[in-house]
Amino acid sequence: MPTSGSYDVSSFISIYLLVFFFCFLFFFFLRGIGYSFRKPKAFCVLVFRVIFSHWTCLPKSHIVFLKTHKTASSTILNILYRYGESRNLTFALPLNKQKQLFYPYFFASHFVEGVSSRNVKEFHIMCNHMRFRKAEVAKVMPADAFYFSIIRNPVAMMESVFIYYKSIPAFQKTQSLDDFLDNRAPNYISSAINNQYAHNILAFDFGFDNNVTADSEDLVERTNRSIAAIERDFQLILILEYFEESMILLKHSLCWTLEDVVSFKMNSRSERTRCPPLPSTAEKIKRWNALDWRIYMHFNKSFWQKVETLIGREQIEVEVAELKRLQAKLAKICLKDGGPVDPLQVKEVRLKPFQYGAAVIQGYNLNPHIEAAQTKMKCERLITPEMQYTDSLYNQQFPELAELKQNKRLIKTNQ
Ligand SMILES: *[C@@H]1O[C@H](CO)[C@@H](O)[C@H](O)[C@H]1NC(C)=O
Ligand SMILES: *[C@@H]1O[C@H](CO)[C@@H](O)[C@H](O)[C@H]1NC(C)=O
Ligand SMILES: *[C@@H]1O[C@H](CO)[C@@H](O)[C@H](O)[C@H]1NC(C)=O
Ligand SMILES: *[C@@H]1O[C@H](CO)[C@@H](O)[C@H](O)[C@H]1NC(C)=O
Repeated sequence: MPTSGSYDVSSFISIYLLVFFFCFLFFFFLRGIGYSFRKPKAFCVLVFRVIFSHWTCLPKSHIVFLKTHKTASSTILNILYRYGESRNLTFALPLNKQKQLFYPYFFASHFVEGVSSRNVKEFHIMCNHMRFRKAEVAKVMPADAFYFSIIRNPVAMMESVFIYYKSIPAFQKTQSLDDFLDNRAPNYISSAINNQYAHNILAFDFGFDNNVTADSEDLVERTNRSIAAIERDFQLILILEYFEESMILLKHSLCWTLEDVVSFKMNSRSERTRCPPLPSTAEKIKRWNALDWRIYMHFNKSFWQKVETLIGREQIEVEVAELKRLQAKLAKICLKDGGPVDPLQVKEVRLKPFQYGAAVIQGYNLNPHIEAAQTKMKCERLITPEMQYTDSLYNQQFPELAELKQNKRLIKTNQ
């Protein structure tokens, strides 16, 4: 059974020997025609290493994560933030301490702090909210960057969006999701501010037009085009419904360790504000968000194909169990209450999650009895909400700009 990271041993050894054999042959040939090397072995070692690197897994640190909406993407953001911060990697952060990369506008390279001023030599990770546009992202990120994203079942997504973005024009005057789908959707105005959340939001975030339903004549053609574009631009599409499996797949794809992909749920809604849609509502959502639905079905299938070929169904179960054990262990060490709590119960301001819409977003309290400074830091990072963490990374990466902003704010409040 193939498992990623370990390869068929016999074929590996035979390739190893073959490479060495040809290397020495080549070396003696060069000597024969008059070249002389001071370090004959070093030459072969170099040749070998170049080839070897194709067989071994080198951890990837050039990463683009398209942060989609209501898809646990804040949890993934936290994973990327911790990975990068602990290794001094640079982030492609929003200009001027904005919270997002000027979403819902199409991404442009100058939205990133340090691009126009050219004072960042190399960006490693880009992961804040944007409306994706590959050509512009490629101007900022290294050519070998690994692109990935996460999607969610559009039915559950619409329910979540409806609660969280209840105040957008499309939903404002609606009684319920059914009321919207039955009565308002036909007159939906796509250009109204923030209305993109109400229609094929997934397709929109990936950079496609969202104005398509099951009744659109060009649905099939636009679906094909969208899927082809995603497959061209992204190496991996994760699925929220299989979050742990997604983390294992991510770990293998990036050649990371299990430690690297462990997390606590961030920006997560309390159960109190959840209510699964009825089957009839679900059918209406699938028709209204037909493009999202088809994209989801396609990538749900390819996700499982990837699991089969890269890891195997049995092996992934083993690794998911390991991940859950590690997470439980960390929860015990790091958290005061063993799990998430309602926002009012989060004591420290810098750990308070941002609240929006009608949802109740939960947070965490740090265990006050952590002794080791190293552990405390690790735990703190695990539970730092997105906005505070983004701010903190900005301050570390651009200390002068951050100070300038701080001073301006002080002047303003003094006036
Ligand atoms: C990151 O930078 C800090 C301060 O410059 C340094 O002390 C630390 O060793 C660096 N860590 C890594 C993993 O390079
Ligand atoms: C969808 O929106 C795009 C961009 O706004 C527009 O060019 C296109 O004509 C629209 N298509 C339909 C079917 O309304
Ligand atoms: C869409 O893709 C499917 C499967 O790849 C193909 O059979 C079909 O002809 C395509 N349709 C259009 C309109 O491109
Ligand atoms: C996604 O794929 C899994 C595994 O094949 C399957 O069990 C599940 O029903 C699929 N989800 C949807 C919504 O079709």
